[in-house]
Amino acid sequence: MSASIGAGFVPPAFFAGRVVLVTGAASGIGRAIAEKLLALEARVAAWDLNAGRLRELKARHGDLVATEVVDVSDKAAVDRAARETAARWGGFDHLVNNAGIIGRRMTVRDFDPAELDRVLAVNLKSVFSVSSAFLHHHGGRGEGSIVNLSSIAGRTGGMVGNIAYATSKGAIASFTHALAKELAPAIRVNALAPGVIDTEIQKDVFADEGSIAKMASVIPLARLGTADEVAEAALWLLSPGAAYITGTVLDVSGGR
Ligand SMILES: NC(=O)c1ccc[n+]([C@@H]2O[C@H](COP(=O)([O-])OP(=O)(O)OC[C@H]3O[C@@H](n4cnc5c(N)ncnc54)[C@H](O)[C@@H]3O)[C@@H](O)[C@H]2O)c1
Repeated sequence: MSASIGAGFVPPAFFAGRVVLVTGAASGIGRAIAEKLLALEARVAAWDLNAGRLRELKARHGDLVATEVVDVSDKAAVDRAARETAARWGGFDHLVNNAGIIGRRMTVRDFDPAELDRVLAVNLKSVFSVSSAFLHHHGGRGEGSIVNLSSIAGRTGGMVGNIAYATSKGAIASFTHALAKELAPAIRVNALAPGVIDTEIQKDVFADEGSIAKMASVIPLARLGTADEVAEAALWLLSPGAAYITGTVLDVSGGR
């Protein structure tokens, strides 16, 4: 019994020195993942559009973090940034495909092809480009793992008006199942499906206490989740604590 206690958690020192690419690392869930990894002395390639917040991350963590202003929907920019990080640290060990947007409110009756393209480019096509760049700079570094950010909206349909977002997140689950097969057994690939997490992506929807309370009332654990709680699950899935788990989508949703 005692030999297995703690075996399911992140092994101490596992992340020290490992190179982890986190997209959308400047705020919310991505920042929480980056901060936890940096606290464990991982080297983090932090990519985001928000230059100011990336500078703050750099100021706090110095040489452990390599920040890059990268639009993940721009494949050329992704390839360039991946080459730069690889030149600096010799390649990547782990990847968190986290950057995402909800997009403008849109129904199918009045759908705007340009907006649909934008949401799919940032939330879905980027995950192909970034994963591909990661794999080109992973070779020969031994075991690795990838975590993608899906959403429970991918299976529930999310809120009316967010159909492009829900579709992109459902596709992230499919991508995860398929890539896990493509990369097995060398690299494990899993996804997280958060419910409603208190971050800036939700700021317009849950702007007042009334709407937060209404949402909390339909969540079995009776509150919104935190970025830290999602980050804990991400680190566990990345680590050997989850050694026999691949192709899985893990809900972090308070039971929703
Ligand atoms: N917060 C939630 O309730 C929730 C629920 C389910 C899934 N998710 C997913 O979790 C992920 C993180 O969301 P969050 O809640 O932390 O949101 P957030 O808005 O706080 O963070 C998203 C980050 O992605 C960055 N980003 C956006 N577009 C980008 C681009 N083209 N290139 C590079 N970076 C870009 C933003 O600048 C921002 O720093 C997203 O994929 C989101 O869909 C969030």
